[in-house]
Amino acid sequence: MTQDTTHPTDLFENPMGLDGFEFVEFASPKPGILEPIFELLGFTKIAVHRSKDVVLYRQGDINFIINNEPKSHAAYFAEEHGPCACGLAFRVRDSHKAYARALELGAQPIEIPTGPMELHLPAIKGIGGAPLYLIDRYKEGQSIYDIDFEYLEGVDRNPVGCGFKVIDHMTHNVYRGRMDYWARFYETLFNFKEIRYFDIKGEYTGLKSRALTAPDGRIRIPLNEEASEGTGQIEEFLMAYNGEGIQHIAFASDDLLASWDMLKERGLAFMTPPPDTYYEMLEERLPGHGEPADELKKRGILLDGTTEGGDLRLLLQIFSETLIGPVFFEFIQRKKDDGFGEGNFKALFESMERDQIRRGVVKAE
Ligand SMILES: [Fe+2]
Repeated sequence: MTQDTTHPTDLFENPMGLDGFEFVEFASPKPGILEPIFELLGFTKIAVHRSKDVVLYRQGDINFIINNEPKSHAAYFAEEHGPCACGLAFRVRDSHKAYARALELGAQPIEIPTGPMELHLPAIKGIGGAPLYLIDRYKEGQSIYDIDFEYLEGVDRNPVGCGFKVIDHMTHNVYRGRMDYWARFYETLFNFKEIRYFDIKGEYTGLKSRALTAPDGRIRIPLNEEASEGTGQIEEFLMAYNGEGIQHIAFASDDLLASWDMLKERGLAFMTPPPDTYYEMLEERLPGHGEPADELKKRGILLDGTTEGGDLRLLLQIFSETLIGPVFFEFIQRKKDDGFGEGNFKALFESMERDQIRRGVVKAE
């Protein structure tokens, strides 16, 4: 019998006791690159590590760490990839148990050197060789930050920022043929389940995607693989990034319009908005959606989901430009939809085509 650490809120059996994302660790070849980006995204620097050149930024319950420590795994990672996400942490209810179980199932341990009086953070080799930490100290006042970091004086330790509370999902890009390997990694070690598979075809390129969800229902990891023979967007990312890794991180808000306004005021650059035709087609695509189309259009926010049978399941989303090398961010608000905006790929494609027809570039038969 395997030990059951399943919690009442779990979606299905949770043998690792997963409980959401804890932090993402970043690095860059030289300091000063990531800090202004995190501020644009609504984060505040709240603490510095007691002995290492490591700082903690926070917004809502999202922790971003910048590791500028020389000769660390982060430094080597940055040398290879440029500015990047070089580590990832999952919350688990008991890190010793989870770590032992991961190794038993074939995970590769990664030793992160610690200074005196510092916590030893168990980690296994994750995406792109980056450490995947297993953290059980995340209770307020007893967290890893309370022990290894010093909070800045007078700083709000739980800044609201732009209203983003949690990481909704974190998409990985992997080499062609490697999606199954990475799906097995998360399935075997953590009991993730595939909730969606899609094959998205543009006119010339395409991508395959497997969306995995953890048993706690809060860690969502879609895996993307290039579907075309040529240099589609996944291939381009892998070349720019110099390997497999985190392509984008999505933050969830309860009020995306308000969050967007705050990001805009900070000067964040968003991806090019869709053509007007996208919004003209909204009512046709999602009849009775009830969202303020003009407000969405003004901001370039996309809408996806379904309104079938009057049951509204919607998702609002928008993306930043690439901000950290080829890595970008997504901002979303879920209204009962648990997808990733798949419908928008097709809708964007069609709205651009309609726009081309209107401009006479493409002749409609
Ligand atoms: Fe996404």
